[in-house]
Amino acid sequence: MKKNIFPENFLWGGAVAATQCEGAWNKDGKGETVLDHCTAGDREHPRIVTDSLESIYSYPTHNGCHQYERYEEDIALFAEMGFKTYRLSINWARIYPNGDDLEPNQRGIEHYRKLFQCCRKYGIEPTVTMTHYDMPWNLCKKYGGWSDRRVVEFFVRYARTIFTEYKGLVKRWLTFNEINFGTVTYGGIVTSGIIPENRKIVMDDPNATPEEKSKRFQALHNEFVASAKVVQLGHEIDPENQIGCMQCGFTYYPLTSKPEDILAAQHDMEIWNYYCMDVQCKGKYPYWAKRFWEENDIRFSIAEEDLAELREGTVDFISFSYYKSDCSSEAGAGEQNNGTNFGIPNPHLPQTAWGWCIDPKGLRYLLNDFYARYELPLMIVENGIGEYEIKEADNRIHDQARIEYLREHVIAIREALQDGVPVIGYTPWSAIDIVSAGTGEMKKRYGFIYVDADDSGNGSYDRYRKDSFYWYQKVISSNGENL
Ligand code: BG6
Repeated sequence: MKKNIFPENFLWGGAVAATQCEGAWNKDGKGETVLDHCTAGDREHPRIVTDSLESIYSYPTHNGCHQYERYEEDIALFAEMGFKTYRLSINWARIYPNGDDLEPNQRGIEHYRKLFQCCRKYGIEPTVTMTHYDMPWNLCKKYGGWSDRRVVEFFVRYARTIFTEYKGLVKRWLTFNEINFGTVTYGGIVTSGIIPENRKIVMDDPNATPEEKSKRFQALHNEFVASAKVVQLGHEIDPENQIGCMQCGFTYYPLTSKPEDILAAQHDMEIWNYYCMDVQCKGKYPYWAKRFWEENDIRFSIAEEDLAELREGTVDFISFSYYKSDCSSEAGAGEQNNGTNFGIPNPHLPQTAWGWCIDPKGLRYLLNDFYARYELPLMIVENGIGEYEIKEADNRIHDQARIEYLREHVIAIREALQDGVPVIGYTPWSAIDIVSAGTGEMKKRYGFIYVDADDSGNGSYDRYRKDSFYWYQKVISSNGENL
């Protein structure tokens, strides 16, 4: 009999982030987060960050897909699909509304306890991101986000609270969502909480000054230290905890076979992937970092004790998102690095409606590349396609493009498993339709479940199973055989 390639305990599931799905942005004592201050945008118009909440703008994360109130219904649907795991995030500002509070918000704690218990009731193991674009707004304003060293201790306090409160309910944790975005403007805002002068959420600002860049790299360093500390803390509180890093997985190919383009692709892979992964997986900065800092006028402080901390706090596994691949050229990406996109499109690949190149083989490439470098188990915690979709008169949603996209990526994972890469799980983005992080649109849909809501927050918010829901159900019940 043919042997199934997927391990028996493979973690099939789906993923979301609190700020994009919960809504209830000011309920039960929750504080404001950075995304609560981000307006709606689209492919052509970047989102902006506003200080006060202005009535001329809409703030899509205030609605999400109403999961805060409807989580029981959603988890029942995930169980119907057969999820083994549900990747979600705890909203930092529900637990510590201002980030620097001395005591946590009990109502926030109880909310997630009930949610995790509900997962357990259905035999779904939560995979929990500790922070996913949800820095408490007070920390952005008062401290300049992660650029201030004091934030490390606030985060450790938050981590201690959630590790302790959810001991026995959660065993798989991810520290920072897509920490590697911290190197560019986009991540400087959403992951590091640094609000730029022009307030625009663009991928990268070519006019960023050395001071601005240095601030971002200081923030990133502080996040590394915090991550290393909480990995150690999590192991102390419960030795069964498995704690991973979370990277946006970038596959860069040289645009041509010119040696200059090959070096450019290597450089992009270094900056985008290995800069953070080396620190979190090997416990040290890459050997080329010094030259990179010098040539880019990046200056920040690393305390002597930090180096030991980084060495001690390496992660148990790697998790990453994978949506697309890009090309690199010696000429740089130029205008391609706009509000919602980055890198040079590959002329050999089709693109989504938002201009992201669809490349399943790039996932196999990356899985092998990461495993060869770090020899750690790997989990793909985001992968999917954003589409415009309509609900037919019979309430069906024919999302064939999603089925094809995911099928090809599951095949790529199967190939990587055959190559010998220990892939432990796959949680496509997104378990259910939620608000896009990059553009703030609801109509950029990723879910297996359709949510009846539009970009302005109109709609019943009722849930409908898409065709991909039934397809994924078969994939899971056959453990990846029936694609
Ligand atoms: C990842 C993020 O970068 O991509 C998610 O972790 C995000 O938060 C996802 O939603 C898809 O990107 P977007 O911009 O289409 O929502």
